[in-house]
Amino acid sequence: MLFIAFLVFSSSFDTCIARRGRHWRQNRGTSASLYKKKGKSHGSNSNHNHHNGGSKPKPKPQPPSHQAPLPTAPKPPPPSPIEDSTTFNVLDFGAKGDGKSDDTKAFQAAWAAACKVEASTMLVPAEYVFLVGPVSFSGPYCQANIVFQLYGTIIAPTNSNVWGKGLLWWIEFTKLKGITIQGTGTIDGSGSVWWQDYPFDDPVDDETKLIIPLNNTVEKHPPIPIRNEFSKKMPSIKPTALRFYGSIDTTVTGITIQNSPQCHLKFDNCMGVVVHDINISSPGDSPNTDGIHLQNSKDVLLHSSNLACGDDCVSIQTGCTNVYVHNVNCGPGHGISIGSLGKDNTRACVSNITVRDVIMHNTMTGVRIKTWQGGSGSVQGVLFSNIQVSEVQLPIVIDQFYCDKSTCKNQTSAVALSGINYEKIRGTYTVKPVHFACSDALPCIDVSLTTIELKPLQEHYHMYDPFCWQTFGELNTPTTPPINCLQIGKPSSNRPQSDHDAC
Ligand SMILES: *[C@@H]1O[C@H](CO)[C@@H](O)[C@H](O)[C@H]1NC(C)=O
Ligand SMILES: *[C@@H]1O[C@H](CO)[C@@H](O)[C@H](O)[C@H]1NC(C)=O
Ligand SMILES: *[C@@H]1O[C@H](CO)[C@@H](O)[C@H](O)[C@H]1NC(C)=O
Ligand SMILES: *[C@@H]1O[C@H](CO)[C@@H](O)[C@H](O)[C@H]1NC(C)=O
Repeated sequence: MLFIAFLVFSSSFDTCIARRGRHWRQNRGTSASLYKKKGKSHGSNSNHNHHNGGSKPKPKPQPPSHQAPLPTAPKPPPPSPIEDSTTFNVLDFGAKGDGKSDDTKAFQAAWAAACKVEASTMLVPAEYVFLVGPVSFSGPYCQANIVFQLYGTIIAPTNSNVWGKGLLWWIEFTKLKGITIQGTGTIDGSGSVWWQDYPFDDPVDDETKLIIPLNNTVEKHPPIPIRNEFSKKMPSIKPTALRFYGSIDTTVTGITIQNSPQCHLKFDNCMGVVVHDINISSPGDSPNTDGIHLQNSKDVLLHSSNLACGDDCVSIQTGCTNVYVHNVNCGPGHGISIGSLGKDNTRACVSNITVRDVIMHNTMTGVRIKTWQGGSGSVQGVLFSNIQVSEVQLPIVIDQFYCDKSTCKNQTSAVALSGINYEKIRGTYTVKPVHFACSDALPCIDVSLTTIELKPLQEHYHMYDPFCWQTFGELNTPTTPPINCLQIGKPSSNRPQSDHDAC
């Protein structure tokens, strides 16, 4: 039903965008007044305070076409705006915020100004909807500690011309030192126009092979939506909504990122990442819409966030170390995953990963490590602790045979897995409680299980007992169900770690 609503919505997307904008402004109005009550306003220049309690803004700085947001409820008077020469409001750089005009240049201009001032603020005010095309806010010549203060909504264009042959990201921040995105605003990737164009080309999560519907009807794809007549086909390369690259000390907090064409939030080559109190939201059936991707990043803290999407809520990729994830809600989605690693015979190195105090509801997998055959490198030192699952198909998964085709060639090389700890994994599963499929040549070692309590819940799938293959370690407590397939101790002929596997 949700999906149908979505289709109706997206088919009239171009025509109702203005109405939608106003609707959102009303929503945002609530948060704006909340934030004013808390008195945390950074304000803008006094003559440009466009969201002054309920009255129309002065027409002077605005072109005549600009429609003032009309709040529905009376608001308390805002605190007097702070005159602040380090705040750069996108409205002052020509942004319209009407959800229709292209505000990309205004955002670029505001950034160019903010970039020159240390600890400046680029302000995206509340109650406006800014249509912004692909944009890069980049250093390395920017000053440190810039704050991107997002109260309004930024939406992605749905016109395929804007995207050319396809881009890997929509909004990116690169090579910055101390960049913060904060506020109560929303980044909306207008993903539905992308999801509908290529419903079958997307790689399917390999773990779907483990999920067999009871009545043997093949899981149906959602019906192919009628393509929006006004938009051409979107490129097959889909952008990540918000991407950080090569930055030091990055913070993302407060905001909502929704309906990304693909991954919502990505960190690549970053050192010192803090993400907290954010919401990520996309439909459970939107293809390949990962929540948060981490790659080649060190010292990452992610907490207190709600992640709902169509693929992995969090995906920890190669080159990540010292990652701490806690107090996260995940679902719908495909759980929290390390990997996939080692694709196309690549080397992958992941170490010191902690995921704890997570609630997962209605996800495909829970906590998972997935690697391709033929890879090298290692995953070492992982703790999954206090994971509450409900109606999760496969709560605990190690899959070293990850494969995007029906079968992949068996290869002896593998990403070596060791020191993988599971404790307090509790709740209900609907397919299989534990699936450990480790490499023949390089078994998983030091896998420990403590306080595992998983109860079956018959839904629409065949149910299975725990499965282990080449998995060695310890059972520290009795488990529910019993996991007798885990081989206690170490393999007798454990291949010594060679240079090939070293990280
Ligand atoms: C995030 O979503 C939750 C639940 O949907 C909601 O209660 C909360 O207010 C949202 N937070 C933000 C920052 O939008
Ligand atoms: C592992 O990561 C945590 C942060 O998650 C960090 O505090 C700790 O020092 C790291 N351990 C090592 C040995 O680097
Ligand atoms: C690959 O190895 C696995 C585990 O030993 C086995 O179950 C599977 O049949 C093999 N696949 C092929 C294509 O040989
Ligand atoms: C059998 O398949 C139909 C259609 O996919 C589905 O609606 C129904 O719930 C399934 N029955 C059971 C018992 O799972």
